[in-house]
Amino acid sequence: MNRTVLATCETASAQSTSVARPPLFASPWSLGGIASIPTRLYNALHRSVFTKRALCSRSKELDEIRRFAQQPSDIDEHLEMMFTETLLCRPNVIVELGVRGGASTFVFERAAALCSATLVSVDIDDCSFVSHYPQWHFVKGDDVEFASHFPEFCRMKNIAPSVDVLFIDTSHYYDHTVQEIQAWMPLMSARAKIMFHDTNMRLVGPRKDGCFQIAWDNQRGVIRSIEEYLSTEIDESEVYTDCVNGWLVRHSPYCNGFTIMDRVSCSSDEAIRHGLVTENQ
Ligand SMILES: C[S@@+](CC[C@H](N)C(=O)[O-])C[C@H]1O[C@@H](n2cnc3c(N)ncnc32)[C@H](O)[C@@H]1O
Repeated sequence: MNRTVLATCETASAQSTSVARPPLFASPWSLGGIASIPTRLYNALHRSVFTKRALCSRSKELDEIRRFAQQPSDIDEHLEMMFTETLLCRPNVIVELGVRGGASTFVFERAAALCSATLVSVDIDDCSFVSHYPQWHFVKGDDVEFASHFPEFCRMKNIAPSVDVLFIDTSHYYDHTVQEIQAWMPLMSARAKIMFHDTNMRLVGPRKDGCFQIAWDNQRGVIRSIEEYLSTEIDESEVYTDCVNGWLVRHSPYCNGFTIMDRVSCSSDEAIRHGLVTENQ
């Protein structure tokens, strides 16, 4: 990728016409729209009775994330865990696919700062304003397309071309998630951690706080892509942990679902690629 193409990747308009976008709001006359009315009323009543308090810690970053997560959203119940999981990986490079208003970016920029890691965020919309972290790079474009330019991008930015933490939170569609996994998996480091949001999307889904999450039905798009990659089956409505084909897989059904894959062993080809063994070992 030459400099002109890289500039295109970082700033110019994405080919958003060819990118499938999920629905923003359910039509008021659809099942989701009708179900959302009593659900919203119930949630408001529940929140007025059970107010959420952010616990204090000795970490400024953790406290900031806990305060931020007090605002209910489609991801608030995962933010603290995304922070601790990222720290545990001690990453050099974090890649975030799907930025929108920057809730996940808020978490990753804090974890990145504590590890002196580089954070690369990708979105088809312009989200270049959401972070001021000095080692943050925002790329406006399609995340699958960008994966093919990633090694060149890293060379030009002097970043190691190997991703330690990958966060996927984009269209939630099956076809697109399959492509994301195919495109980004070869770029993952030996200690890869991949976090997927929206692995249990329903019109009305469970939350840990006793309220209900209102979403849309993505026909198991994200979790089905993971199942196929791992050649396994996951009941996304339950808490789940297993070791499958070299990955530790943990799944939480709450708040639209969240699934984490940690690489625990490599195939011999992968081990050679990561420099863990040489070809004649
Ligand atoms: C659910 S939002 C992300 C939420 C964000 N992670 C947060 O915590 O607030 C999904 C985002 O993915 C972006 N997106 C959808 N398809 C994409 C694609 N093919 N490539 C890059 N970004 C995409 C959308 O523009 C949208 O901003």
